[in-house]
Amino acid sequence: MSHTLFPLRRQRLQRSELAVPGSDPTMIEKAADSAADYVFLDLEDAVAPPEKEKARRNVVAALQEIDWAAKGKTVSVRINGLDTHYMYRDVVDVMEQAGDRVHTLLVPKVGTAADLYMVEALLNQIEQAKGYTTKVATEALIETALGMANVEDIARSATLPGARLEAMHFGVADFAASMRARTVNIGGLNPSYPGDQWHAAIARMVTACRAFGLRAIDGPFGDFKDPEGYQDGARRAAALGCEGKWAIHPSQIALANDVFSPPAAEVERARAIVKALREAEAAGKGAASLDGKMIDAASERMAANVIAIDDAIRAAHG
Ligand code: GLV
Ligand code: MG
Repeated sequence: MSHTLFPLRRQRLQRSELAVPGSDPTMIEKAADSAADYVFLDLEDAVAPPEKEKARRNVVAALQEIDWAAKGKTVSVRINGLDTHYMYRDVVDVMEQAGDRVHTLLVPKVGTAADLYMVEALLNQIEQAKGYTTKVATEALIETALGMANVEDIARSATLPGARLEAMHFGVADFAASMRARTVNIGGLNPSYPGDQWHAAIARMVTACRAFGLRAIDGPFGDFKDPEGYQDGARRAAALGCEGKWAIHPSQIALANDVFSPPAAEVERARAIVKALREAEAAGKGAASLDGKMIDAASERMAANVIAIDDAIRAAHG
């Protein structure tokens, strides 16, 4: 291991993240009682411009009136992008009126580390002015060519003193638009591409996340009538190191929870690996064999990841 090491900044269960338009109070209420680990109340692309102000008021009310943490949820607000005139008031209104009730702000279309710096400077001021003892975290949505070109820099900014960044998300729809990729589907595979056309982008973002201690989350899959397509995409993301995926429809919550929860057999094997290595160690050996396969200290590190996520699920759901 290098002498330079950035441990995971914060473990939060984020297998399923339900996207809820801030303009729809009924959907917000339902989201609070859903099985999603995470909910983000959207002020950005799911809200039409004439609805922006009303959505902001709904979101503030939902944060004030619903105890999201008591319902076992992390609650996040997706603010508008820094290129809009909505963004500053999203931050000011949400933070001044409910800044001690929201856990994270999801910042869309992050293109440079300075975008987060600007949001975080505002957060510092508002939290100080209001005397909050809580500290809201940030999450960056990587969904533009510029954001992907700077993704390592953006992730590295989490290591600066006082930084709030905890996670990065891959926004496949805006990314496709920004790249001028030939598709109008949100997240589906392009049959004319041999493989997954998003593989390289997700892999790059996950690498940046893991290098600097951030959670990596996969974004939306638009066709909610295609549960198999959703789960295939989620499994590919999980194979690359993502620990959760958005649900743009309530039916996708269970699909995500299923894919991102290690099955009992996988957890059992992880525990068996740790046990076998402890026994090998006691016998003075670094490697061992389990069910005919060689295992060593790297196997234990992989097993520890599986056990950590299983522990987090148990802590949240018993
Ligand atoms: C999410 O915001 C996306 O653009 O995919
Ligand atoms: Mg987007």
